[in-house]
Amino acid sequence: MMNLDIQRLSDENRYLIDGFSCVETDEMLSGLNAKERRRIRKHSQDMEDFLRDEAYEDQEKGLSRTYLFVNDGKLVAYLALCNDAIRLEFEERDDMELPYITVPAVKVARLAVSADCQGKGIGKEALQFAIYVSQMIKDYSGVVFLTLDCYEHRVGYYERFGFQRNLYQPVVLDYDSPVSMRLWIDEYLAEKSDEITE
Ligand SMILES: CC(C)(COP(=O)(O)OP(=O)(O)OC[C@H]1O[C@@H](n2cnc3c(N)ncnc32)[C@H](O)[C@@H]1OP(=O)(O)O)[C@@H](O)C(=O)NCCC(=O)NCCS
Repeated sequence: MMNLDIQRLSDENRYLIDGFSCVETDEMLSGLNAKERRRIRKHSQDMEDFLRDEAYEDQEKGLSRTYLFVNDGKLVAYLALCNDAIRLEFEERDDMELPYITVPAVKVARLAVSADCQGKGIGKEALQFAIYVSQMIKDYSGVVFLTLDCYEHRVGYYERFGFQRNLYQPVVLDYDSPVSMRLWIDEYLAEKSDEITE
């Protein structure tokens, strides 16, 4: 496993962003048609642009907090977190015995791993770090879920981690619109602890 140093984005480490690229190569997307490849690359490009152009300012404004994952002095991934609240449908609340329609969460606003380091477990580590941060916030304020919005081609990745689609999805007209997902943090941690004791 890669040795990762997790740093909060700051004036001192901003220079690490230069040269970060999470856009997939042709080889990584082989098997997909040209239109699909273009679509996926565009979304990955947006992740790259956010880090370069918006992450620092957003953080200054208190809109999100960005973490850099550094290996051997090189930026290999970043994660931006913010606070969130999601609306649950009756059957979802009933299952979880939650009395409120709107439930507090921490949101993975952005997550990207550099193209040459994808598939090595870094995305998973970043999500585990997001859970760790959520647990710290939970000491001071309410947090039930880790949430995110992702495009259809990433849904399987997040489902494998334990996320599920929210029944309530914002109404959008674009065919390629993000899917709203949630992970129940307590359930995730209980399952992990069972795995460890088994
Ligand atoms: C999506 C992303 C964050 C995942 O991070 P990563 O470090 O590459 O992923 P990990 O190494 O943690 O996990 C890889 C595993 O997920 C699996 N996986 C990847 N995509 C999957 C999918 N759509 N469905 C199911 N499994 C998937 C891989 O097969 C691999 O399985 P393995 O561990 O058994 O080998 C990364 O690929 C990335 O940054 N992509 C470009 C930007 C982007 O799309 N960001 C997310 C926006 S929502």
